[in-house]
Amino acid sequence: MRIDVVSLFVDFFRGPFDASLLGRARTEGLLDLRVHDLRDWARDRHRTVDDQPYGGGAGMVLKPEPFFDAVEQLYGSVEARPRTVLLTPRGRTLTQQLVEQLAAEPQLLLLCGRYEGIDERVHRALATDEVSVGDYVLAGGEAAACILVEAVTRLLPGVMGNATSGVDESFAAGLLEYPHYTRPASYRGMDVPAVLTSGDHAAVAAWRREQAVATTRQLRPDLFEAWRRSDGEGAG
Ligand code: ADE
Repeated sequence: MRIDVVSLFVDFFRGPFDASLLGRARTEGLLDLRVHDLRDWARDRHRTVDDQPYGGGAGMVLKPEPFFDAVEQLYGSVEARPRTVLLTPRGRTLTQQLVEQLAAEPQLLLLCGRYEGIDERVHRALATDEVSVGDYVLAGGEAAACILVEAVTRLLPGVMGNATSGVDESFAAGLLEYPHYTRPASYRGMDVPAVLTSGDHAAVAAWRREQAVATTRQLRPDLFEAWRRSDGEGAG
């Protein structure tokens, strides 16, 4: 998969895009991730990308031209752009379902905003999706883009070391994960549940299912209700 990211702060991505899962996916050629500096498409020698808001008010607004020029240079035309995600607090909240959709695309473009806002014409004419990572305001779209890229990348074929570990995990089935334990069997007075050391695979599977349901009900009643109403019915 190829992902282009357009941002004013390309240094922000050093580290997040090089370490761990993303770094490995890139060196293994599973992810072609390119970060572009919006200022490369500024039109004056001061590399200006923002201007005062029409109608007045505090703060600056990111100009439309650098975004449109970036898209045209990267893809040839606005029409030829891939699915284009603008990271913004006004977008729809990122969910695993949307992550799965995005991971199925051959290519993505992520646009990161900063300051008070981005000219509305970028929202209207360039973004195919406006996405928020939660109901809180970040300084800009960069951290949100990191979240989206990591969530998408771990679903790409070949990226996860253990192919099954992505399947029965949190959210995929609408439930949180069951509790995990490793050695020691007893630690600071807390014992590993006996069923996990019983060797009874069917009993382990039943316990995990039951724990996933109970954990979800306790920690995320909203998810639990949604699960109970859909695929949970009859199964749990
Ligand atoms: N930019 C600022 N806040 C954001 C958020 N919550 N999600 C995505 N982009 C943002």
